[in-house]
Amino acid sequence: MTEMDDPDSDAISRAQNDPKLANVLYHDWEASTYDAKWNISYDQRCIDYANDRFEHVAGAVDAPYARALELGSGTGFFLLNLMQAKVAATGVLTDISPGMVDVAVRGGRELGLDVTGQVADAEQLPFSDTSFDLVVGHAVLHHLPDVELAMREVLRVLKPGGRFVFCGEPTNYGDFVARRLSRLTWWAAARATRLPVWRDRWARPADELAKSSQVALLESVVDLHTFDPDQLARLCLRAGAVDVKTVTEELTASWFGWPVRTFEAAVKPGALGWNWAQFAYRGWLGLSWLDQHVLERVVPDELFYNVCVTGTRP
Ligand SMILES: C[S@@+](CC[C@H](N)C(=O)[O-])C[C@H]1O[C@@H](n2cnc3c(N)ncnc32)[C@H](O)[C@@H]1O
Repeated sequence: MTEMDDPDSDAISRAQNDPKLANVLYHDWEASTYDAKWNISYDQRCIDYANDRFEHVAGAVDAPYARALELGSGTGFFLLNLMQAKVAATGVLTDISPGMVDVAVRGGRELGLDVTGQVADAEQLPFSDTSFDLVVGHAVLHHLPDVELAMREVLRVLKPGGRFVFCGEPTNYGDFVARRLSRLTWWAAARATRLPVWRDRWARPADELAKSSQVALLESVVDLHTFDPDQLARLCLRAGAVDVKTVTEELTASWFGWPVRTFEAAVKPGALGWNWAQFAYRGWLGLSWLDQHVLERVVPDELFYNVCVTGTRP
């Protein structure tokens, strides 16, 4: 299947009972539009974002890690931006979706980075023991049927003393709130954009909505877990890691960000324009600052939306 093809309905129905097939179909289908959907870029904005996530949980790096591996790289958002921030010198981008690996490797080479790519299931890594100094991932653990098995694989391929950093995983409570806010926004936007005064300007064409909802059915199959930060830390310890630490991020920023993103998906592409983009970005940035500098000190960590975890191989 190429990046542009839609999965056929037979494949979609088989994938309902096979989360790994669902991940391949869903993310292959998304690969060519993924960066636009999530507002991902490879400029200073996302370099800072990726580096801040890394430093928030693992601290600043003194010298770049020589050889890094990314699991579930998608289009390469995390590792490519970390490499641009000089966190790692060389990188191997892996994902279960071939379409994602293609986009990630092409993007890395266009940025002039020293990267290779390989299709790989995080639960069964095709690399020999002790071959990496750093393993990273962003928004991938919650897609894996057996997270502990994947963490054992991470520790197997890390060199002794090597570090792993996983960020952007949904917490139990954060995901509960975000999904409800998103559903409410979708419901309201779908009705508002059907009103005659807004229909021409905002409403997405009906055939486009029908097609995207076919593939979107797989979203409920690919999202397998949400996490309690302490339980995630214990899972990493059980897999054999040491020096395990978790931090959580985004409280009010996620209450703002999810409805904004859902609204953007509900209306005609390109209809919202530059002023909206500025409002969305600056609003999210300001609330992230509030979360990190004020609310993280007083609000229980499990209430935040994202959890990051780091640890090392003994
Ligand atoms: C939500 S996307 C995140 C992509 C990217 N890390 C980012 O933050 O933009 C999750 C990615 O994990 C990949 N994935 C899902 N299950 C996987 C598995 N078992 N092994 C490796 N990658 C997997 C998907 O194909 C998808 O590209």
